[in-house]
Amino acid sequence: MKENRIMFICLGNICRSPLAEAIFQHKIKEKGIENKYYVESSGTAPYHINDLPDPRTRRVAKERGVHMEHLGQQFRSVDFERFDLLVVMDDSNYQNIKKLNPPENIEIVKMREYDPESKGDDVPDPWYGDYSDFEKCFDILDRACDNLIASLEDQA
Ligand code: 4NP
Repeated sequence: MKENRIMFICLGNICRSPLAEAIFQHKIKEKGIENKYYVESSGTAPYHINDLPDPRTRRVAKERGVHMEHLGQQFRSVDFERFDLLVVMDDSNYQNIKKLNPPENIEIVKMREYDPESKGDDVPDPWYGDYSDFEKCFDILDRACDNLIASLEDQA
């Protein structure tokens, strides 16, 4: 297993990345492989440190049967040592992480590299939208998590 410590990253860490983390955890538990992975999420911005996920994030997770337990945290340079794979939601997250001078050995990928329906696109930020944008966000992350897990398990 090459990349078993995974950090999902967005801007605020109250919508996309905590949802990605919760969906990923849910799926690896279903498969009985949760002990193979260590997963967290964070935001590049400090706006929501120690905040619960957005109420709409919590609602969509609950409606889809995915347990969420998270408080917002900001990505820190020390996390480059703590993780093998950083999964960012959009180009601006990617640029923000690059500004922190990541070491060469850490892998940084966009979440939708794993989405067969729209490879490499951004995961749109639902924060500015309405509840249906959170449902769309869940669907994107759900598909992408399936393929991310498949790809990680292939390497195992
Ligand atoms: P997220 O969405 O990056 O998916 O968590 C956002 C949440 C909050 C803010 C921006 C994006 N904000 O500016 O507070």
